This record gives sequence, C-alpha cells and structure tokens, in this order.
Amino acid sequence: MSLGPITKPVRIAVLGAGRIGQMHAELLARRVDGATVPFVFDAVAATAEAVGARLGLAVASTIDEIMSSDQVDAVAICSSTDTHVELIEAAAAAGKAIFCEKPISLDLALVDRGLAAVRASGVPLMIGFNRRFDPTHRAVRDAVANGKVGDVHLVRISSRDPSPPPIAYIKVSGGIFLDMTIHDFDMARYVTGSEIVSVTAKGAVRVDPAIGEAGDLDTVVIVIEHANGAITTIDNSRQAVYGYDQRVEVLGSAGMVASENPLATTTLFRDASGTHQDTLPYFFLDRYVPSYVNEWHAFVDAITNGNAPPVSGNDGRAPLIAGLAAWRSYREGRTVTTAEIDDQHGGDRS
Ligand SMILES: NC(=O)c1ccc[n+]([C@@H]2O[C@H](COP(=O)([O-])OP(=O)(O)OC[C@H]3O[C@@H](n4cnc5c(N)ncnc54)[C@H](O)[C@@H]3O)[C@@H](O)[C@H]2O)c1
Repeated sequence: MSLGPITKPVRIAVLGAGRIGQMHAELLARRVDGATVPFVFDAVAATAEAVGARLGLAVASTIDEIMSSDQVDAVAICSSTDTHVELIEAAAAAGKAIFCEKPISLDLALVDRGLAAVRASGVPLMIGFNRRFDPTHRAVRDAVANGKVGDVHLVRISSRDPSPPPIAYIKVSGGIFLDMTIHDFDMARYVTGSEIVSVTAKGAVRVDPAIGEAGDLDTVVIVIEHANGAITTIDNSRQAVYGYDQRVEVLGSAGMVASENPLATTTLFRDASGTHQDTLPYFFLDRYVPSYVNEWHAFVDAITNGNAPPVSGNDGRAPLIAGLAAWRSYREGRTVTTAEIDDQHGGDRS
C-alpha cells in the first residue's frame, strides 16, 4: 500500500504521552499549522487521560482504536524506545504515515525489521532527529552545503546535559553512546553530508559513580572518520553545571562556521566585578522547542505534498550503527568501522 498525498490538516495521533509525547501533543494541537491531534494514547491510561484533559484532546483506549480509525492519517510514536518497532509495524500495516522518535530501537536487527515493514507498505516515515531543524545548527549545515566554508576538514560537536537522568533511566537507555551521542552522530552526518566510516571512543565516569555501577559512562570523547575524509570530534558530558551546552563548529578550506548557544535572555549586566549575562536554557525542552515545531512543519509539508520526509529510516539507522561501534570501540580499545557492525547484521541499507 502506498500512501498518496494527504489533505491538510494532517490528523496525527500521539502514541506515548510521557515527557516528549505530551510536548509533541501540545505543539501539534496548538502551534503547528496544518496539523490536528485526533487522539492521544498511552499504555498507562491515567497518563493519556491527564494529557488529554489538559490539552482538550480525545483519548484512545487501545492502539487498535487508532490504527483502525479513518480519523487518523498519521501517528507520532513517542513511547518508550523498546516499543517503537512494534508500533511502526502496526502503523505500516494500517497505512498510517509515521513519525518516530529517536532511536528507532537499540537493536539493529529490530530496526531493519521495522524499516522492512515501512518499505513493504510504502507509508512515509520520519525519524525525530529534531536538532536538524534547530535554526542555528541548520544555518551551519546550509553554510557547508552552499560551499561557504570550502572543503570540510574538521567538525567539532560539544553536547553536554545540565544534569544526569535518573539511574533507572540510565539502565534502559542503551548507555550514553546510544542515548545521548546518537544525536551528535546524526549531527555529524547532517552537517558534513558524509557517512561515518569509523568511530574511536574513550569514556570515563567523572560525574556519579552510580552511573558507572549501572554499566554506563558520563564523560566521553569520540573521533569519527567520514567517507569524504573529514574528521569529527564529539564531546559529551552528563553534567555541565552552567546549563545545556550545545555547539557545532565546522572548519573548512575557506573558513569556519559555528552555532553558539542562545542565552535564556540577552540581558547584559555590568558591575565593578565584571560583565554578566543570563544562563543557558536549562535543557532540551527549553532549548529545542523551535526545532520541534520546525520538524513538525517539515513532516506535515512532506506528507501533504507527497514528498519523502526529510529524515529517513536510514538516517535513523546510521547513528545507531555509530553508537554500537562506539561501545565496541570503548570496550575493546580500538577503532571500529561502521561496516564491521553493519555486516554482522546483514548490511541492510536500503
Ligand atoms: N528527540 C528528542 O529530543 C527526544 C527527547 C526525549 C526523548 N526522546 C525519545 O522519545 C521517547 C520517549 O521518551 P520520554 O523521555 O518521553 O519517555 P517517558 O518515559 O517520559 O515516556 C514514555 C511514555 O510511553 C508510554 N508507553 C510505554 N509503552 C507504550 C506503548 N506500547 N504504547 C503507548 N505508550 C507507551 C509510557 O507509559 C510513558 O508514558 C524515547 O524513545 C526517547 O529516546 C527524544
């Protein structure tokens, strides 16, 4: 089944009404022209009901109610990561367009199963790598794509959270490379326009010993080789005491371009001790709201015009492979190629 263009407004049911799902439901219902939310659903009924009541949205009591409804054009999969593939398969079988939060899954074989279902049904799929739609990061990518920095030599990405998530979350997150760095692997592919060939990762536990006891790291550095010869370095920390620090810099043969952090306000205060400015936005729900709104406009535009959505299934798959390569690199103390990881899973890149 192939989905033709859909008439606006696109009716998008939100599956999973937790931290990110309730934000997406609110944006879709109130801030995205051309979208409506016919239902919200959560495996915990009370969660869906609370969000539905707050936003004035209908609540579905089962997934089947959504998949069989002719009032639903698309689904936004915002549930826990381990449920994404089964929901992708159900939506593909029902002929619904799909938006799926990152990561598609922590298991590459499951990702391939979900992407095969999407291909077989022909429904559009977009993965929620929202940072591509952040205006400052996008301007970096556009400057590179327009040749303004010449040949790309070096990319530097810093991505630091203000504070670590709960240990219970760490345990099911896939670890820092699959939970946090996955956004930066995507950013590296996005700004360079070039695939990741190899990954070398170093890591430490510097923030909280409990993170190490849970089998994870909180402080990491990654070096990437790209197919076009460029090199990217990424540094991640689970704790930057000054706030959510998100910077991307590209150095090329003709210059450099960088995205700096926006401040919470642009107020400037000077006194005898110096010049003071506001803090950084606290976390992703402060920093990246414009990117989430823009990603929804991109999804709605793509499916109403019958175009392929701008962040493909393969764009969801490639950073997972890089994350798996990073874990192996860290554990084995060597550079790991993405081909090595991909070949073990059959190399399904289509
Ligand atoms: N793009 C981003 O910036 C970003 C940010 C945060 C989270 N995420 C991703 O979004 C997803 C959700 O993360 P979160 O932080 O909102 O988690 P969360 O735990 O706050 O919410 C997940 C919700 O899914 C519900 N759920 C579980 N199984 C379900 C099912 N089968 N059907 C429907 N609902 C189900 C849970 O009850 C919970 O309410 C994860 O995949 C995460 O990686 C992306």
